[in-house]
Amino acid sequence: MTTSAFRDAHPLSWAFHANTARFAHNAEPPPEDVWPDPAREAPELPLTPLPTGPVLTMTLDELLHSRCSCRQFTAGTLPLAALASVLQAAYGVARQEAYGRLDFTTRTVPSGGALYPLELTLICRQVEGLASGVYHYLPGLHALECVKAVVVPAAFLTYLFMGQSQLTQAPVLGVLSAAFGRTMKKYGDRGYRYILLEAGHVMQNLNLACTSLGLGSCNIGGFFDDELAGLLGLPVAQEAVLYAVAIGMPAATGRQQQRDL
Ligand SMILES: Cc1cc2nc3c(=O)[nH]c(=O)nc-3n(C[C@H](O)[C@H](O)[C@H](O)COP(=O)(O)O)c2cc1C
Repeated sequence: MTTSAFRDAHPLSWAFHANTARFAHNAEPPPEDVWPDPAREAPELPLTPLPTGPVLTMTLDELLHSRCSCRQFTAGTLPLAALASVLQAAYGVARQEAYGRLDFTTRTVPSGGALYPLELTLICRQVEGLASGVYHYLPGLHALECVKAVVVPAAFLTYLFMGQSQLTQAPVLGVLSAAFGRTMKKYGDRGYRYILLEAGHVMQNLNLACTSLGLGSCNIGGFFDDELAGLLGLPVAQEAVLYAVAIGMPAATGRQQQRDL
């Protein structure tokens, strides 16, 4: 597709892309307020510390060649330790680093400006030791805060995920959301690109961790943003959903099913 064909077929995308093509953030003086915004935490919510999960032992070569989308899951309970490993690999803290008098934590993914704009929320339907409900992952504490204990009706989940009923059978549905201001405070509208790119890093880590642990996962782009954000209780003035994933134990026939969307 030529530039003009892209512009004519998708004027909205083209306008965004073209208008964020020459943002010279590294050549401009930094904004006055240079302090990164913190990750979202709600100390009043009940907290479940996560165990140290199993180590991922497959080689990168093996993982890259065996990863695939899984769309059928067996009934059963997902072990909490396995979920802990998946979350740690996806967006957990990798290490602490001293920078002058400050301590920085880095994550398992690269992040534009090390600002980590993403949040990971789970709809847990059947996880060992967790009541059904909505949980928010806190990477710094490696813990889950319970946003609400609720059994979400399967029919409502299927509606939220645009009729993809096989995916909503999974014991866990993960949702990545973005707190846009964290990155866009520094990078302006071009930061929007960085946030989407980072979401891809997180999901790839999550997919590979699932593969290594014998779990199935399927990334999901098809959902109703506003309704899903409402179910998760996101602070919608600052944050919006970007990407979702079904996680569970793969049925024998579950891998490489024809995609629904
Ligand atoms: C951004 C994105 C959105 C996707 N959304 C869906 C989805 O809504 N439903 C689905 O069944 N698969 C979805 N997939 C999975 C793709 O269909 C799948 O990756 C593709 O068919 C290639 O198959 P593989 O992952 O097994 O290699 C999505 C993948 C990506 C990267």
